[in-house]
Amino acid sequence: MNLPAASLAEQINGLLGGDNHVYFVNSGSEANEAGFKIARQYMKQEYPGEFRYKTIGRYWSYHGTTLGTLAAGGMGERKSKFEPLSGNEFVHVAPPYCYRCPFGLTYPSCGLACAKNLETTILGEGPETVAEVIVEPIMSGVGVAVPPDEYLPEVARICQKYGLLLHVDEVINGFGRTGKMFGHQHWDLTPDIVSIAKGISSAYLPIAATAVKNHVFQSFYGEPSENRQVAQVNTYGGHPAAAAVALRNIEILLEEKLVERSAETGRYLMDGLRTLMHHPWVGDVRGKGLLAGVELVRSRETKEPVGSRQIQSVMDFCRENGLIVGRSGGGQRYSNTITLSPPLVITRGEIDRIVETLNRAIAEIPAAL
Ligand SMILES: Cc1ncc(COP(=O)(O)O)c(C=O)c1O
Repeated sequence: MNLPAASLAEQINGLLGGDNHVYFVNSGSEANEAGFKIARQYMKQEYPGEFRYKTIGRYWSYHGTTLGTLAAGGMGERKSKFEPLSGNEFVHVAPPYCYRCPFGLTYPSCGLACAKNLETTILGEGPETVAEVIVEPIMSGVGVAVPPDEYLPEVARICQKYGLLLHVDEVINGFGRTGKMFGHQHWDLTPDIVSIAKGISSAYLPIAATAVKNHVFQSFYGEPSENRQVAQVNTYGGHPAAAAVALRNIEILLEEKLVERSAETGRYLMDGLRTLMHHPWVGDVRGKGLLAGVELVRSRETKEPVGSRQIQSVMDFCRENGLIVGRSGGGQRYSNTITLSPPLVITRGEIDRIVETLNRAIAEIPAAL
């Protein structure tokens, strides 16, 4: 332990509403891996007669690049070359991706079929075999899927009902990206495990963390002979230089009120992006704060995605005109959403430029590709 890391842990604990313990690692993938291990060991120690080891995630989610996090994620094309990745310890349910509802339903008459799918899966697997549910509050990889407002509270309720830990992946959502310090705070959740990375240091130096609630942490207290501690070591986790940078980064976020600014300029960004709906190519515009997606389709009626070369033409046009945009990671078929996550210090004038550049890029999509 070192002073910057201890201060950073205290800072993060406060931002998460208190009652947390923070374990430092170097990347978002490691933060999630540590969360999986903590969940499994917690269940072994707290439910000694049961065998709760499974992690339930959502299809189309991304949780990292290690074998465990790839298995937890739901992006077939990113993991198929490395499979088989695991036994049956990572299970998947349908994502709350309303524009392409996996059940073909429409919110709110859907009755939150995606949350019901979670409960059905827990029951089908056997709740006594499940340790945790991992969710990214706003799913970024699928092209920024903002869930209906009742969805995450319902997921939390289901976790509580079956004694599962709720593990929230804040690697992208965290530190103001969505207009709150953490994405889950839009829905007043109190997750048991939170994975954080990227925005913790604005990526100036590598640092990430897994925060757990005190009731989870308490499980690992004991005499050395009891072997209750988490057997997890990490050489560089909480490196003092990285921790000092993260601390200063968070101070700047707070001093310059960048979280509030993200919410405010995010609304301006969304208003601007919605004007792009005049192009028939634009099927959906969605987002929260400064995390946004513009889904491009060949036809609004059929929602058939634009082709890979069409979306590439938009990205190339943008790049040639000084704007870097991303695209969703839905494999061959569903990488058709332009994703945006501009710096939290972005100005309204710069947002105008983003919208204007995208407007020209979409106007020039070649119809024939
Ligand atoms: C939601 C989410 N979780 C985890 C990760 C993995 O983080 P890292 O690349 O730092 O391992 C990412 C990376 O993009 C991510 O988007």
